[in-house]
Amino acid sequence: MAAKVKVMGISGSYGNDSNNTKLVKLGLEILSNLGAETHFWDLNEKPLPLVGEEGCWENENVKDFQNLATEVNAYLLSSPEYHGCMSGVMKNQLDWIYSKHVSGKAFGLMSTLGGQSNSNTLNQMRIAVRWIHGWAIPEQIAVPNIKTAFNEDGMLQDEKLIERLENTMQSLFDTALMLEK
Ligand SMILES: Cc1cc2nc3c(=O)[nH]c(=O)nc-3n(C[C@H](O)[C@H](O)[C@H](O)COP(=O)(O)O)c2cc1C
Repeated sequence: MAAKVKVMGISGSYGNDSNNTKLVKLGLEILSNLGAETHFWDLNEKPLPLVGEEGCWENENVKDFQNLATEVNAYLLSSPEYHGCMSGVMKNQLDWIYSKHVSGKAFGLMSTLGGQSNSNTLNQMRIAVRWIHGWAIPEQIAVPNIKTAFNEDGMLQDEKLIERLENTMQSLFDTALMLEK
């Protein structure tokens, strides 16, 4: 039977060593165990041009990105905090999706910080998601002190954060189903 929940994971930084990529992949694994079909957009394999850059409107990766965004019914975003804001990489990806791709669909939001936990980046992503008519779930995750947040096995060290991640993924899954009705 086809999965009713299809999730697109989007990381706000490049590289397979990226902590945001790790976090998104952890979240997608939980969603997959819940029965979702999951897709991670790999910027290293398929980079997106800056919006407005010469030739960007005909870019094949952009078309694939928008097609995948249209096909799924949920999104999992994680951005590093840069100077108190979401990263330019995350903003540029959000700038490539419009309401015609994501309207009425569920979004889960996460962020990582070199320093202390705060909600700046999460709040900014929440505003952008509202602008493209997505439904950001109320649960959200900020991972502070990111350099020491993961253990050698790639798992979060803080058990409370793991529990929060599981609860947030459950909510994203349930919300995607609810919005399908
Ligand atoms: C340009 C830049 C600005 C940053 N600004 C902040 C900041 O304002 N607050 C903070 O806690 N960490 C800041 N950091 C640390 C990043 O949040 C941290 O490196 C990132 O969350 C790691 O995620 P990644 O491995 O996916 O890149 C900054 C890092 C860079 C490169």
